[in-house]
Amino acid sequence: MQDPVSQIYKTLGSEQPIYKLVDEFYSRVEQDSVLRPLYPEDLMAPKRHLAIFLVQRFGGPTTYSNERGHPRMRARHMPFKIGVKEKDAWMANMIVALSTVPEFKMHIPLLQEYFEEFATFMINQPH
Ligand code: HEM
Repeated sequence: MQDPVSQIYKTLGSEQPIYKLVDEFYSRVEQDSVLRPLYPEDLMAPKRHLAIFLVQRFGGPTTYSNERGHPRMRARHMPFKIGVKEKDAWMANMIVALSTVPEFKMHIPLLQEYFEEFATFMINQPH
């Protein structure tokens, strides 16, 4: 059985819904008092990083690895203090963002599970 997350890109038809998802997500991060301080002032680079990562993870072009090498996501998150509070805030913003992009509607249960597992793995602080 193929990994279902890597089949999502085909059903989306283009990168556009992923860029929309990332915009919706970061417009919430921008207003989030728990998460905002973790990110740099200019969110342009974080937006691009997340978008090209998700394009690749969902089975699209591998621009992320071409530009940034192996994802090593846990290591890349180590500089930021991520406890349950930060993880819950990240998830809450992503769940709302997913609900705003119609192309993701059929993938919400799968992506909720995928992001939940991934975000839990990023926790690097007891609280
Ligand atoms: C658990 C809560 C999380 C917090 C608080 C968090 C926070 C951050 C911060 C502060 C950055 C640095 C900004 C940047 O350079 O992009 C970052 C980078 C990144 N995050 Fe997260 N993150 C979380 C979970 C996740 C999850 C679940 C994913 C993917 C599904 C993810 C994907 C990424 C990616 C792709 C990057 C860019 C890495 C790079 O290439 O430098 N993050 N994250």
